[in-house]
Amino acid sequence: MSPLIDRYNRVIRYLRISITDRCNLRCIYCMPKDGVPLLDRRDILSYEEIERITRTFIHLGITSVRITGGEPLLRRDIIYLISKLSNIQGISDLSITTNGTLLSRYAESLKSAGLNRVNISLDSLYPKRFFEITQGGNLKDVLDGIDSVLNADLTPVKINMVVMKGINDNEVIKMVRHFMGRPINLRFIECMPINRKTFLPARYFIPMEEVEKMIRREFHLEHEQALVKGAGPADYYRIKGDLLRVGFISPISQHFCSNCNKVRLTADGRLRLCLLEERKEFYIGEALHKGISDRILTMMIKKVIRSKPFMHRFNPDNMASCRYEFKSLMSSIGG
Ligand code: GTP
Ligand code: 5AD
Ligand code: SF4
Repeated sequence: MSPLIDRYNRVIRYLRISITDRCNLRCIYCMPKDGVPLLDRRDILSYEEIERITRTFIHLGITSVRITGGEPLLRRDIIYLISKLSNIQGISDLSITTNGTLLSRYAESLKSAGLNRVNISLDSLYPKRFFEITQGGNLKDVLDGIDSVLNADLTPVKINMVVMKGINDNEVIKMVRHFMGRPINLRFIECMPINRKTFLPARYFIPMEEVEKMIRREFHLEHEQALVKGAGPADYYRIKGDLLRVGFISPISQHFCSNCNKVRLTADGRLRLCLLEERKEFYIGEALHKGISDRILTMMIKKVIRSKPFMHRFNPDNMASCRYEFKSLMSSIGG
């Protein structure tokens, strides 16, 4: 079967599947404190449907599959799903993005089920600040979770810090020092405007160039891209003489849309062609409920992929004035 290629000749190799919009945290840039209207459970794709869609994408050349949420470890029988997916021929990279709070409970069984690796969100090393940013989280749960994925050899381990000016940017160096000596990829991420309900005013935005400068003032960085297993947009450097790598993800100040290789599936089965662009969606969930055949499903996916937008429209100067009318929150798209 020919690979999935969009109108701009980008080959699509990476599928991110959100399996739930529920979360046990409320990170300020992702979910309002009071929560959001949740999807009706009947609309959430079943594991059988997820497996079927994944197989279809694998036939179309997808090689990396990432499970996201909300918090994916909250979904019942997650280990069953991972073992089903890891048995599909053709996936070379099966991973999960999690907030880490439940990881120490699941790390070993995720590994046994065939998961390759884990990315974990962590925005502060101060318990009180961590609690505030996540609106209720317990830092120790996440730190224990990180230890448990290292012990279970779910590698490479990646940590995601969304850097926000005046909120946690004074912890960039602290984070680097904390994880030095361990085989970890610590990534710094620009905060993206996903939805008006969670939008942080532009004054909190900090471009990755500034974060990189902070780190270079203290450490010698050596560019080391090819050695990091991953399908995402981070730019990696090794801290000279150490096991730790740092990575920078700059979706706003230096977007990577021209190299975009991915599509996303929301928990209710909407195929989202761009994280920051909502107009183009194909409701696979509904098509499956109507009994669509594999052949037509494949044809539809190929057709819809052709309309993947070339790029999103945000930059550091227009963030504040753009309209944030997306129906979806980050918690239902999965990052
Ligand atoms: P690997 O490189 O395969 O480990 O995955 P990843 O870095 O893509 O996954 P992860 O879920 O850890 O995402 C890290 C951050 O990058 C999150 O904030 C995502 O929202 C962001 N991100 C990943 N891909 C894209 C993309 O195509 N566009 C935008 N705007 N942000 C992205
Ligand atoms: N901007 C940037 N990154 C975000 N994430 C969630 N919301 C945002 C946002 N608005 C990150 C989380 C998680 C990953 C899936 O996406 O920190 O690590
Ligand atoms: Fe939950 Fe992740 Fe959103 Fe935080 S970023 S509220 S952990 S889904």
